[in-house]
Amino acid sequence: MTAAETPRLREMRWWDIEPVIALEKDLFPEDAWSRGMFWSELAHARGPSATRYYTVAECGGRLVGYAGLAASGDQGDVQTIAVARDHWGTGLGSRLLTELLRAATAFECAEVMLECRVDNVRAQKLYERFGFEPIGLRRGYYQPGNVDALVMRRTAAPGGDLAAAPESGLTAAPESGPGAGTASLTSPNDAQGTETHG
Ligand SMILES: CC(C)(COP(=O)(O)OP(=O)(O)OC[C@H]1O[C@@H](n2cnc3c(N)ncnc32)[C@H](O)[C@@H]1OP(=O)(O)O)[C@@H](O)C(=O)NCCC(=O)NCCS
Repeated sequence: MTAAETPRLREMRWWDIEPVIALEKDLFPEDAWSRGMFWSELAHARGPSATRYYTVAECGGRLVGYAGLAASGDQGDVQTIAVARDHWGTGLGSRLLTELLRAATAFECAEVMLECRVDNVRAQKLYERFGFEPIGLRRGYYQPGNVDALVMRRTAAPGGDLAAAPESGLTAAPESGPGAGTASLTSPNDAQGTETHG
């Protein structure tokens, strides 16, 4: 990929919902979010009382990635993160996650949580590289497939910076595979009344 083709990150706006939905259906075929869910999220993404931050990545006029964060009190939640298949492995997922962690720091979050399908190893590796650690499982979180969610957490470094470079935020991977040594959690994250794609 040349420098000219490097995707540009910017704030997500309502007119991005259609191309986001197209990616959503491809990348989350079993539990894609609806247009209404994205409208609802963006409704809380602007102004002094904003609790959401959504970003998109554009490349050559095409939307190739998106990600969103919700802040509640001192906790941030990765709501969703996705990259078009032809951009996987280029570092775009890392850039989007870095952007969400910057937003979490701006929201003054002390920690960031996320849920991830237990079978989504690629995403888990990305999160682990950023210092997220598995802390529990939510049984049957993803419906209708009845797939468990691995809950992961990253806490802020001293000084409150969640957006430190991945290299400096690295922590050890779990002892043996995703979810090793994790507890079973029961209270679902219902910030949206649905599962997150974090
Ligand atoms: C998970 C997802 C967001 C990762 O996006 P991505 O753009 O591939 O992420 P990155 O490129 O930053 O990192 C992925 C891999 O590419 C490698 N990589 C990073 N930069 C790279 C580069 N410049 N060149 C080649 N490889 C690179 C990384 O080392 C990483 O490898 P690893 O997983 O073995 O550690 C993407 O696969 C996706 O959208 N999946 C479908 C939706 C989804 O599952 N979302 C998460 C829900 S929990």
